[in-house]
Amino acid sequence: MNVLEERLQAELQGLEQQGLLRGLKSVDRIAGGRIRSGESRLLNLAGNDYLGIGSNQTLLDEFYSTLSADDRLGSYNPGSGSSRLMTGNHSGYEQLEQGLASLYGTEKALVFNSGYHCNVGLLPALAGKEDLILADKLCHASLIDGMRLSRARLIRYPHADYERLEGLLRKHTPSFRTVFIVTESIFSMDGDCADLSVLTELKQHYNAVLYLDEAHAVGVRGRQGRGLAEEQGKGAEVDLLVGTFGKAWAGQGAFVACSRILYDYLVNRVRSLIFTTGLPPVSIHWLDFLLPQIKEMERERHRLAELAHQLRQGLRGQGLVTGGNSQIVPVMIGDAARAVAAAGRLRSSGFQVNAVRPPTVPEGTSRLRLTLTAAMETEQLSALPALIARAIT
Ligand SMILES: Cc1ncc(COP(=O)(O)O)c(C=O)c1O
Repeated sequence: MNVLEERLQAELQGLEQQGLLRGLKSVDRIAGGRIRSGESRLLNLAGNDYLGIGSNQTLLDEFYSTLSADDRLGSYNPGSGSSRLMTGNHSGYEQLEQGLASLYGTEKALVFNSGYHCNVGLLPALAGKEDLILADKLCHASLIDGMRLSRARLIRYPHADYERLEGLLRKHTPSFRTVFIVTESIFSMDGDCADLSVLTELKQHYNAVLYLDEAHAVGVRGRQGRGLAEEQGKGAEVDLLVGTFGKAWAGQGAFVACSRILYDYLVNRVRSLIFTTGLPPVSIHWLDFLLPQIKEMERERHRLAELAHQLRQGLRGQGLVTGGNSQIVPVMIGDAARAVAAAGRLRSSGFQVNAVRPPTVPEGTSRLRLTLTAAMETEQLSALPALIARAIT
């Protein structure tokens, strides 16, 4: 072991002692919102396939039947061969971006390789030392990394504390070139929602720029599945609306819906767009194929909301502490080791549930995080609240 490995080993041992050690497990998806992991078949309450598209064999068959067998290079190609700014910008991209812009009613949409690429790239391109970023304390790691890379002054306001946000806007706006307000719409670990009426009012009053990450809301919220801004009637007032394709869209990538000027600027400046190979044609065709269908999936959206409501009621009935109002259902535990032990017991009972621990969530707020999909049946979840109550004690 060299000097570096000795240091790392000590750190890993520390993580293990605190119940914070993570590792990769091999998992295969099977039908009905379930996964196969080793010998076990488990109901997957730890995925993001919110509409059940990723386990819909019929839809996948239909998709592959739309691809031209005579054009394997164009349709099925698993690689794009280059950055989008070189020769990787194959024609499916244009169709997808136009479709997204028309869905969101914006001049343009720009597609990235992932939500991480998008969030880590946008703010460093748009903000610098003269600017201020005011971000919700619970923003996702990809947003935090983007904010840090931007070198702008960063202040994180307590989660959803808009009075505090207003105080910061009042105090600091005159001293900075541009002020950005950054938030998720559905918060990924708490499953609660931002209040976009307040945020858009504040951004207008203080002439700030609103950056909204709708990773967990696209596909799921709003009549056409455009996200929480659609549901709350605020889509037109969001300056940078980010959606990801890896969750409800059951694909890969992300987009920002924005003005033409932002689009032109971003194409010239976002390093995580410029210095990386574009997405494979087959991935983009999948998104093109899904775009008109997602709009119509109101039934799935209702089902998901209903399942989440039932689960929350069941958990509260067992005296458990939960929160939020989305398909992400946290069960608060506090101690990391207890959360891990509970997740292990649930796994033995046939449920894959994640124990979320620091640094993903603040110290002392470890929890079980249950995510639902419209592919699930009510009966599959009915025994769960009582099982969780037993697993925690
Ligand atoms: C709020 C939020 N933004 C961005 C991302 C990153 O998206 P992707 O998985 O496409 O990189 C995630 C992923 O978990 C997320 O929860």
